[in-house]
This record gives sequence, C-alpha cells and structure tokens, in this order.
Amino acid sequence: MAGFDREELRSYARAKRGEYEQVLENIVEIPSVSVDPERKGDVRRAAESAVSLLQSFGASAKLYETKGHPMVHGRFDRGPKYPTVTVYNHLDVQPAEGPDWNTAPFDFIREGDKYRGRGTTDDKGPAITALFGARYAFEKGLPLNIHFLWELEEEIGSPHFEATIRDHKKGFATDSVVVSDTVWVSRSRPASPAGLRGLQGFRFDLQTGETDQHSGTAGGAARNPIAELCQLISECVDGKTGKVKIPGFYKDVVPPTKQEIEDLKKCGFTVKDFKRDHMFRSLRTTDAVDVMKRIWTMPTFEVHGIAGGYQGPGVKTIIPPKATAIVSCRLVPKMRSEKVVKLVRDFVRKKNPDVKVSTEHALPPYQGKTTGPYADAVRGAMKFAFGKEPVFVREGGSIGAVLSMERVLKSPVFFLGLSLPEHGYHAPNENFDWPQAEGGIAAFADYFRRIAEMGR
Ligand code: BES
Ligand code: MN
Ligand code: MN
Repeated sequence: MAGFDREELRSYARAKRGEYEQVLENIVEIPSVSVDPERKGDVRRAAESAVSLLQSFGASAKLYETKGHPMVHGRFDRGPKYPTVTVYNHLDVQPAEGPDWNTAPFDFIREGDKYRGRGTTDDKGPAITALFGARYAFEKGLPLNIHFLWELEEEIGSPHFEATIRDHKKGFATDSVVVSDTVWVSRSRPASPAGLRGLQGFRFDLQTGETDQHSGTAGGAARNPIAELCQLISECVDGKTGKVKIPGFYKDVVPPTKQEIEDLKKCGFTVKDFKRDHMFRSLRTTDAVDVMKRIWTMPTFEVHGIAGGYQGPGVKTIIPPKATAIVSCRLVPKMRSEKVVKLVRDFVRKKNPDVKVSTEHALPPYQGKTTGPYADAVRGAMKFAFGKEPVFVREGGSIGAVLSMERVLKSPVFFLGLSLPEHGYHAPNENFDWPQAEGGIAAFADYFRRIAEMGR
C-alpha cells in the first residue's frame, strides 16, 4: 500500500476548510450541555444532527437510546475481512455562562484561524476533524472499516455508556479504538496520553437548622454549617500545599519511574506557558517537574464549590441553616474509587458525623500503552501530519468511556488528541483552530492507512 502524499492531503484539507467550518458551526451552535436538564432536547438534537451529518458523508449511522442521553454510532464499511477501527468522541459539552465570555458561548465565532464557542475544542472540533480524515481515507479505497462512537454523556461521567455498548456489543465490535479527546503539552509538539487520571466525585451536605437566624440572638451557641464544612475540608486537605490528609489516601499511588521523569523533562512543558495558558497568577510550586508530577501522576482532593449563606451586597447578619460542598478526587492508576469512597466516608464520619456524604461520578484511572503496532501508528501518523513524533506523557483529565471500551469491546484504545492548552478546556472563550484541524485531518487519514496496512 503506497503511503499518502502529505502535500496532497494537506491541500485536500485546505480545499475542504469552508465545509469544515460550516459543519463545526452547525454542531457548536446546538447547546448540548449534558448536565443541564433544560438542555435535554438540545442534547438529543445534537445526536440527531450528528446522525444526519454522518449520513451526508456517506456513512451509515444510527441513534441509540440509553437510559439517559442518546448515543450515535456510524460506519464506513468495506467488508468483514478487513480491520475495523472505531473513533470515539463526545458531542456533549460543559455548561457555559457567566460574564467572562467575550461572545455568546453558543455562537460559532471565526477569527482568522481561530474558532470560538463552547465545545469547539472539547470535543466537537476534534470529532469533526476525525470525520474529515475518515472520509478522505475511505474515499481513497483503503481496505478497512471506520466506525464512529459519539457519546453525549461524557461530561457527566458516562453513566450509561458501558451498559449501552454492552447491549450492542455485536454491532459495535471493533479491532481497535482511537480517542480524540486529549490535550498536547504545547503547540510545538504533538502528545499522546500514556495514561489518564480517574475521578471520584462527592457532595458534602450539612444541615444544622431550618431557616436563617439572627446572628446576634443565637450566635455563639448556634452551629455554623459553613464554618464546619470549611473545617472538615481543611481536615481533608492542606489548602496551601494540596497534600491530602486522609490517612491511607496515597497508599496505592505508584510513583513515576526514572524513565517517566526523564520523559517529563523532555516533553516541552514549561511553567511559564502553563501559567499563561491557564491564566494563573501563582501556583503551589514553581518547579516544572513538580508541576507535571502533580497534574499527571498524583491524586488530588479538590473543592469545586461551597454553597450556603448570604451572598448579596453588604453584610446580612444571619446564621445559615445549611451548607454544601462539592468536591472530587482525581485518581491515578492502581487507585480504586470504591476504596477512596470508603476512606472519605469513614474519615468524614469520624470528623463530623452530621455531614451527609453522597457520591457522584466514578471514573477509573487508565494506564495506557506506548509500545506495539498501534502506538507506532500513532507516532507515524503524528509525525506524518505535524512533522514531529508525539511525546507520550500521562494526562490529568478523565474519560469514563475509555476503560469501558477496553472492557466490553475487548479492543485496545489509543489516542490522537488535537487540543492545545490555550484552547481553554471547560473555560470561558473555549476555542479550536484551523492548524490543528488541518494537521488533524492528515493525521487521522494517515493513521487509518497504517491500520489498514496492519490488516486483521
Ligand atoms: N476531554 C476531557 C478529558 C481530558 C481532560 C483529557 C484533560 C485530557 C486532559 C473530558 O471531556 C472531561 O472533561 N472529562 C471530565 C469528566 C468528568 C466531568 C466526569 C473531567 O475530566 O473532569
Ligand atoms: Mn472531552
Ligand atoms: Mn470535558
């Protein structure tokens, strides 16, 4: 099988730019916020529009119901004797409101090479990029089947993903999976995850009264639920250093190997870029290796929000009756969420038995592979498209579907991510850009060619 010609492929991509932007605009302008019950209809509309899109590209496609939001499966089929690769992406997005957006979050804004709007980089832009790469590869007659699995519940922890793919195990059967939902270390060099962190979410609720009460008449004797939750949290974690104080929390953590540390040093990460891309004023550490260890190889205990009490102008002198804290732990390979849940529950019961702990998303950590023919195909395709081999470093985020696909479809999962730190995952003014899309189309097409070459 002759290789693709890079210049031909990239000029093909450039010729399709207008179509790419139109397709991305259509899907970005559907506000598929999976966590928001009021957006349920929009999430379904995104799934329906994805089915039509796949069909308009010449694939067959179907919407699959789950116990929550639907899921989409599409296929370019060549025949059963050829290998099948499934591309995983998600088409649901994070909520987007607040004063920090410079334009309406669900307006697709094009500014030169930049595309702004919620979901442009996480994960609609990469999904559409993979589709364009697939159409090119398929129209070239490559001997392989390319399938698409598009989830609409990723941002809520994939609660129905595993059960649904289990129900359709036969139809979704595949020899390998490629996921495009991860971030490079910097624009100057591609990256592919050697692992992902897991996640265990919690809510802490404390109620000590029924209504607001005057803090002059009752203050001193009344319990303060916000202060108690703050105290509990500071017993769980040292806010300044981030060190988790729950006994046994770090027990299963496997520290990075010497080789991994060497790889970290060469991966192109700098504290300066990290601070700029994420708009941080200061960090818990200024040492680059220490930052990377913290975001990729260590577990965390994070407070996402504390709610309760008075939030208006001036001071209202009341004692609030209740408070809530939303927290989560990022987990690293070998940690198990059941164990973390037990540790946290037992610890909270001991420190403050009135606090009600409920659990939220549970996503297992993932240990990736960086050797073998598929990893080499990732290396080759990234080098073909972007001129440089990717670094394999772990990522700090979580994708629930990854382990489920390995478990149920029994096929290996690899990553061809295209997002950049400055694209602003989950942040206001999220964006994607044409250079990543153009290179991405070439990278996907070339990856498919390599898979076709491997045969079954
Ligand atoms: N694409 C991200 C996962 C990711 C983040 C990969 C950073 C690599 C680096 C995904 O869409 C995501 O945001 N996942 C959530 C899951 C959660 C809401 C259940 C996460 O990691 O917080
Ligand atoms: Mn994502
Ligand atoms: Mn996300």
